[in-house]
Amino acid sequence: MFSLSLRHGAHLAPLEVWHAEEFAGHLDRAREHIRPWVGAGFVTGDVDGARATLRRYAERQAHDGGRLYGIRRDGVLVGGVMFTDFDAALGVCELGCWLEPSAEGLGLVTQASRALLDWAFTSRGLHRAEWHCRADNARSAAVAERLGMRLEGVLREAWPYDGVRYDKQVWAVLAPEWHALNR
Ligand SMILES: CC(C)(COP(=O)(O)OP(=O)(O)OC[C@H]1O[C@@H](n2cnc3c(N)ncnc32)[C@H](O)[C@@H]1OP(=O)(O)O)[C@@H](O)C(=O)NCCC(=O)NCCS
Repeated sequence: MFSLSLRHGAHLAPLEVWHAEEFAGHLDRAREHIRPWVGAGFVTGDVDGARATLRRYAERQAHDGGRLYGIRRDGVLVGGVMFTDFDAALGVCELGCWLEPSAEGLGLVTQASRALLDWAFTSRGLHRAEWHCRADNARSAAVAERLGMRLEGVLREAWPYDGVRYDKQVWAVLAPEWHALNR
């Protein structure tokens, strides 16, 4: 019902339990593209799995925790952004994102992530926003950099995938840095 306009005619809106079939259809288009780079639990194989993910985020949101938002282009769900973690008491959140291949290269995730960061820092008064990615995920690291985040460290071999352990990067931006960049 409520949505935010993004560039290229795309829109950002909450992704909720009743979107399970649409979300499952989108995952069919995105699955192999995102599988190496996102949490294993996110890459489900059917409508029940998709619904379980949406329900998990709905429960987190009910506790003022994580939140999930879809990006639609021409009415088609092409990806999204989320607070994988949101801790108002601690003043810290973590963002995540994904796109199906057809929506890459348009700046949609950068713009959508800016909306989430602005809400976290301005409306909610959080102090720190993190971005975690596999160290060899150049496109994801590029988004963090475009958002004004700083690479704070590398957690060695912290990301197991398909029998190999990959390094994980931790990027972050602090509220004063965000406000200075977005005056
Ligand atoms: C990570 C991921 C979401 C990045 O997608 P993306 O399209 O590169 O990111 P953005 O939406 O920010 O768009 C940036 C691209 O749009 C281009 N662009 C066009 N207009 C733009 C604008 N106004 N502002 C910013 N970028 C713009 C940029 O040049 C860049 O393209 P390039 O890398 O080919 O130069 C995507 O690669 C993906 O889903 N990967 C698999 C899942 C994944 O890795 N998720 C993250 C887990 S940590």
